[in-house]
Amino acid sequence: MSEDWQGSFPAEYDSWAKTELTESRQDVLAQRPALVALWAGSPYAKEFHTPRGHQYAVADVTQTLRTADGSGDAACWTCKTPDVPRLMDLHGENGFAAHTFAQLGEGMGNAVGCADCHAPGSGELALSRPHAVNAMNKVKQPFEQQSVAMQGAQTCGQCHVTYYFQPEEDNKVNIPWIFGSTADDIEKYLDTRRFYDWVHPVSGVAVIKARHPEYEHWSRSQHAKLEVTCVTCHMPERQDDNGRVYQDHQIGSAMANFDVACAGCHSSQSQLELRLAESKAAIDAARTEVEALLVQAHFEAGAAWGAGAQWEQMQPALTDIRHAQWRWDFATSSHGTYAHNPEEGLALLATARRQANMARARLEMVLEMYGVDEVTYPDLSSKQSAQQALGIHLPELEDEKRRFIEQQVKDHWPAATQRGY
Ligand code: HEC
Ligand code: HEC
Ligand code: HEC
Ligand code: HEC
Repeated sequence: MSEDWQGSFPAEYDSWAKTELTESRQDVLAQRPALVALWAGSPYAKEFHTPRGHQYAVADVTQTLRTADGSGDAACWTCKTPDVPRLMDLHGENGFAAHTFAQLGEGMGNAVGCADCHAPGSGELALSRPHAVNAMNKVKQPFEQQSVAMQGAQTCGQCHVTYYFQPEEDNKVNIPWIFGSTADDIEKYLDTRRFYDWVHPVSGVAVIKARHPEYEHWSRSQHAKLEVTCVTCHMPERQDDNGRVYQDHQIGSAMANFDVACAGCHSSQSQLELRLAESKAAIDAARTEVEALLVQAHFEAGAAWGAGAQWEQMQPALTDIRHAQWRWDFATSSHGTYAHNPEEGLALLATARRQANMARARLEMVLEMYGVDEVTYPDLSSKQSAQQALGIHLPELEDEKRRFIEQQVKDHWPAATQRGY
């Protein structure tokens, strides 16, 4: 428990506890209803928020509609709490993953904490998860051989990284870096394995989902070359009242740390803010365009199937949609791409746009062949209309969640699973 470390390391503990202050988050499906259409057929279409403070990690995964009534995979716990390495020691990595989400809830008493990043009882850095140790070995950056700065970044990379659940290994978490960690490398691996996360209910595309690849984007940035890491920007050094230097464990906004974290290299805060705003606007514009093309492609594929199209005619277009959506997701599912590596983000979106256009051109020919001259697209003017169009009934999902919380969580699971609710 992180509380056990409080006496020895009060400054680190106190700052760590303050991640509870970053409570607010945004409903991304409400901001971008098109995501409901792209993620239809998966739990992501039910609820998706921006991240908030580490103290909420356990509560948010418990309460989200994505984990529904808890009958899904225990692997969803993997990146939320130091109770996970503890339980992996007990059950083994596969034994841990073989549980359902609900079966392990009673053991989840701590949000992201000391033992996630440190050796027991000390300030020494350590990777606590086997999937992360394996991943760093795959890209030939074994933890023990890194500088302290890079080790710090790797502690973040245990969770802020893309992954998939390995079906032949009890659905345990795997980081697919066999060929490398770019979107192209990972796609090659997932294509070789013919892996998919789900089948899209309208188009039949076998979708692959990227998850928050902060570590991957950052690892190819200018900053990474200079060993400016996640830790430099999100948990800089500060001094306590006695003049002792410590690492600020209140992980949150990097720009809030400008004076201590950026000013050494970037002289003007306002210029940096401007630059960030420009990158964000460019990425937002590019993604909006790609999202619209992808929605059209999914529904055009749906119309082609409806008219009687055959697998051989559809397959090239479906593959293009799979690849375009993968790149779009890799560029955008990390909420900080505009800050971490806007160039990579924009390049991925440019390729995604070409691939989505190619899919639509192929589908146009199929539609023509079957005499279809009108395709109906869904009303994506709001999250509500989008969910209705894709057959997602929110009130029913919310009822199911409420029952699960009342019956299983409320009186039985630790307080961390209900923080802020
Ligand atoms: C998400 C990862 C992470 C978590 C969680 C975390 N730390 Fe750290 N901690 C770091 C990193 C990274 C450093 C910097 C190591 C370095 O550069 O030497 C650090 C440094 C330290 C140090 C060395 C002294 C200092 O402040 O630089 C101590 C002691 C420490 N942490 C204690 C704690 C305690 C106690 C907790 C829980 C209340 C905790 N840490 C939670 C990542 C983490
Ligand atoms: C054990 C997994 C884990 C580790 C290790 C971890 N994180 Fe996180 N991080 C999360 C989760 C989960 C969330 C989202 C929590 C939520 O929204 O409930 C998050 C949220 C964040 C946020 C958003 C916070 C906000 O206030 O908006 C930042 C920034 C962040 N992490 C940076 C880091 C950095 C930097 C490190 C390494 C020093 C790190 N994280 C290590 C799991 C982890
Ligand atoms: C050069 C500084 C810098 C580095 C290095 C860096 N970040 Fe960030 N990060 C930012 C900035 C700036 C933002 C935009 C919002 C803010 O924090 O002010 C951001 C945003 C984020 C967010 C989204 C927060 C949200 O609420 O949407 C997460 C998560 C995150 N970073 C994690 C990481 C991780 C993990 C690493 C290392 C793999 C990392 N960052 C490396 C500066 C940095
Ligand atoms: C050790 C020096 C150093 C530190 C510390 C540093 N940066 Fe940088 N940063 C650079 C260099 C070098 C570049 C690349 C040259 C350029 O684009 O200005 C850069 C580029 C950037 C860019 C433009 C990236 C792009 O591709 O558009 C942003 C945004 C940025 N830094 C944000 C930050 C933030 C925010 C912090 C603090 C939280 C920070 N940097 C800390 C050295 C640093």
